[in-house]
Amino acid sequence: MSNSTPPSGQNQFANKAQAWSARFSEPVSDLVKRYTASVNFDQRMAKVDIQGSLAHADMLASIGIISSEDLTAIQSGMATILAEIEQGGFSWSLDLEDVHLNIEKRLVELIGDAGKRLHTGRSRNDQVATDIRLWLREEIDIALDLLRQLRHNLAKLAQQHADTILPGFTHLQVAQPVTFGHHLLAYAEMFGRDAERLVDCRKRVNRLPLGAAALAGTSYPIDRERVARTLGFDEVCRNSLDAVSDRDFAIEFCAAAALIMTHISRFSEELIIWMSPRVGFIDLADRFCTGSSIMPQKKNPDVPELARGKTGRVNGHLIALLTLMKGQPLAYNKDNQEDKEGLFDAADTIRETLTIFADLVGGIKVKPEAMRSAALQGFATATDLADYLVKKGIPFRDAHETVAHAVRACEEQGCDLADLSLDQLKQFHERIEGDVFEVLTLEGSVAARNHIGGTAPERVRIEAQRVLDQTVAN
Ligand code: ARG
Repeated sequence: MSNSTPPSGQNQFANKAQAWSARFSEPVSDLVKRYTASVNFDQRMAKVDIQGSLAHADMLASIGIISSEDLTAIQSGMATILAEIEQGGFSWSLDLEDVHLNIEKRLVELIGDAGKRLHTGRSRNDQVATDIRLWLREEIDIALDLLRQLRHNLAKLAQQHADTILPGFTHLQVAQPVTFGHHLLAYAEMFGRDAERLVDCRKRVNRLPLGAAALAGTSYPIDRERVARTLGFDEVCRNSLDAVSDRDFAIEFCAAAALIMTHISRFSEELIIWMSPRVGFIDLADRFCTGSSIMPQKKNPDVPELARGKTGRVNGHLIALLTLMKGQPLAYNKDNQEDKEGLFDAADTIRETLTIFADLVGGIKVKPEAMRSAALQGFATATDLADYLVKKGIPFRDAHETVAHAVRACEEQGCDLADLSLDQLKQFHERIEGDVFEVLTLEGSVAARNHIGGTAPERVRIEAQRVLDQTVAN
C-alpha cells in the first residue's frame, strides 16, 4: 500500500487511503485495517452478494439506468468471478475491507466502466443487509430439513419402542413408568416447535432491504418489487432507515437456534446418563464415542457432551447480537459488521449438530431389560395403587397416605409393591382385592394412560405415525 497521493477521482480502488475518495489524506495502520475489515469472514456471503448484484443490475437495466450492454457485461463478469471464487482462484484483499468491495473491484478490473455503474442507487448498507438475509434464508431451509430428518428418526425409534418400559423421572427420582417411545416423542415435539419457530422467523428474514441505499432511499426511479421477485423475497422492507439498520431477523434466528441447541442439550444429558454403566439403558454407536488415552475400559459419549457444551456458544451469540443492537441509533452503524461471525457460527453449529444427531438417533442401541428392571425398582406404580383405591371410593388424599405406608413397609422389607401378597396388601386397606395386581404391573400402568398425550403403547403408535407422516422426505 502506498502513501503517495493518487490522481483524484481516478482509479478509486488503487489504494486503501483513497478507497473512498480524495477526502482521505493518510492511510490506516495495518492494525486498524485488520480491525475494520470483515473480508476474512464475510467472504462466505460471496455467492449471495453476486446474486444480489445481478438482481440489482437487472433492475437498473429495466428502468434504463444502465444499458443492456452494461448488464450483459456485468453478468459475464460476475460469472467469471463466481467461477474464480468456487475454484479458489479469487484473491481476497484485506485492503478492500469486505466481500462487497472485493467483488466490485474485481468486476471493474474485468469489465471496466460497466462495473463502475453497478453501484448506482445502492449502498453497501442495503447490500449487506440483503446478503445476510439471502444467506440466512438458505441456512433456515437447511436447518428445517435437518429437523425433519431428526424428527423422522426419533419417530421411527419410538415406533419400535412403543411397548418398551422405563422409569419416568421427576427430580431425577423414579416417578411413574413410561414407554421409551413416549419419551422419545417428547423430543420430537420440541424439535417440531423449533421447526415452527424457524418457519416463522423465515417470514421476516425474507424481506428485501435493497433500495434503501445508505439510509434514505435513492433518487433513481428504482423498481424494488422487481428485485424482490428476482431474489425470491416475499416482501419489500417498507422503511429505508429500518431496512439498513435493524438485525432483529438475525436475533430471532439466533433465539431459534439457541432453543434448538437447548433441546439438543437436554437430550444429550439424557443420553449421557442413560449410557453411564450405572444406568445402562442404551449404548451409542461407536462412531459417536471415543476412548480414553489412559483408561482402556472407557467409552465416552463425546458427541452428546460436545453438543451440550456447544449450546453455550450459541446462547452466547444470541446475547451478543441483542447487545450489539441495543445501543444503536438509526440508521446503519458499523457495529452491525459484528453481527456476522456469531450468526455464521450459530448456523454452522446447528447444522452440524442436527446432521450428527439425526444419524446418532438411528444408532441408539436400546437395552429394554435394564430399563425394565429400573422401572421395577422405584415403586413406580405407587400412583397406580392410589388411583386404584380412588376408583374403589376412597378419597385421593387418604389413598395417597395409605400407599405411602405400603411403600415404606416395602422399603423396610426390601421388596416392591407388586411383591406383596394380597393378604399383606389388605393390611393397608381392606378395599384392596385380587384385581390390584393388574394395576401394579408396569404394563397395566402404562396401558391405562391411553388419552391424547398419554404414555400408553397404543397412543405412542398413533403419535409416532403422526410424526412420521409429517416428516416424510419431500
Ligand atoms: N462490511 C459492512 C458490514 O458488514 C458492510 C457495510 C458497510 N457500510 C459502511 N457504510 N461502512 O456491515
